[in-house]
Amino acid sequence: MTAPVTARTAPGWFTADDCRLEDFRAVVETTTDLAEYPCADEVRGNVLVYGSRLRDSVATPAGRRDVQAELARALADGPGIVVFAGAFPDTGVVDRATAVFQAMIDEQKAAGVVGGDHFATPGANDRVWGALDKFAVRDPEAFAAYYGNDVLALVSEAWLGRGYQVTSQVNVVNPGGQAQVAHRDYHLGFMSEEQALAYPAHVHRLSPVMTLQGAVAHCDMPVETGPTMYLPHSQKYAPGYVAFHQPEFTAYFDAHFVQLPLRKGDAAFFNPALFHGAGTNRSADVRRMANLLQVSSAFGRAMETVDRAAMCRALHPVLRARKAAGAEERTLRNVVAASAEGYAFPTNLDRDQPIGGLAPETQAELAWRALQEDWSPEALDAELTAQAERHTSGH
Ligand SMILES: [Fe+2]
Repeated sequence: MTAPVTARTAPGWFTADDCRLEDFRAVVETTTDLAEYPCADEVRGNVLVYGSRLRDSVATPAGRRDVQAELARALADGPGIVVFAGAFPDTGVVDRATAVFQAMIDEQKAAGVVGGDHFATPGANDRVWGALDKFAVRDPEAFAAYYGNDVLALVSEAWLGRGYQVTSQVNVVNPGGQAQVAHRDYHLGFMSEEQALAYPAHVHRLSPVMTLQGAVAHCDMPVETGPTMYLPHSQKYAPGYVAFHQPEFTAYFDAHFVQLPLRKGDAAFFNPALFHGAGTNRSADVRRMANLLQVSSAFGRAMETVDRAAMCRALHPVLRARKAAGAEERTLRNVVAASAEGYAFPTNLDRDQPIGGLAPETQAELAWRALQEDWSPEALDAELTAQAERHTSGH
């Protein structure tokens, strides 16, 4: 028997053939032991549930650090997901936010906006992209009451350290809304299998510590309303960003996921490498609203700001001339890679929706398209300006 691919034995690059269901099963078919997590109240469906014990433990700075160490261990080496029962003890704070979110959705509908979604048919769900700044600007009092919540800070700092950056998207799955296919999340989880394979194995280990995923339940979510499906411990499977694209892993997930009912004001946080997906809403009349939180590490940024659009404008005529003179494609691509922005995010998902994929076109892709199609400087200028506009968060 060949040894399973683990973080330690992984080669420099993953390949599609590294994904073997028997290795995956050896990782996920394990039981979460409550005794290893002294601050947790219980284990439900192999998931750790935190509540009163946690509140007792965080009262002192030393206790807070111990709790955070335990949470980080649960997210990295344990089930990969933790539920905070009663994260918002005053559900009035949640209701007030719900009213703000609902008003945004109603306005979107009145304006005829159909929100594109990474995974669902447009219109099946209600989405508010970029809900963090929209919320703060529209109702700063309600925002302060909501984001003053310490559970969010506790777990974000536990996973990412200081300087974390919060973003939020409101997701409403209406009755009949269909389940998502199992996936991992941002960064590598937002790529196709081919794109993910272009990143070396150590970056597959890096991606999960760049973000933390969370969801706050804005209504009671019994199982028939389709709360998120999870496969505990699956974040530990090293080639998982490749494997989740493969049908036998999808089938295994569909047969073995757990789905925890949540109450209004509960929150779940999970390692972005955990296999998961929203469930089918089989209820007759519950419009299941969750505030999806994505918290990012402070570290995902360069030290200097760079005016990359100006670089693209200056370089385009030079690259056009070189291309016409027969320059090698690799050389031209290297210049674009060294100058243009190569990543689609952060962006404004209201204006810059991923059409036909998970990510909108990057500046580098735009610059490369302009070169391939031999655009005039004016044409590139206009497209760069339009793209920059789509990235801007405006109200
Ligand atoms: Fe997801």
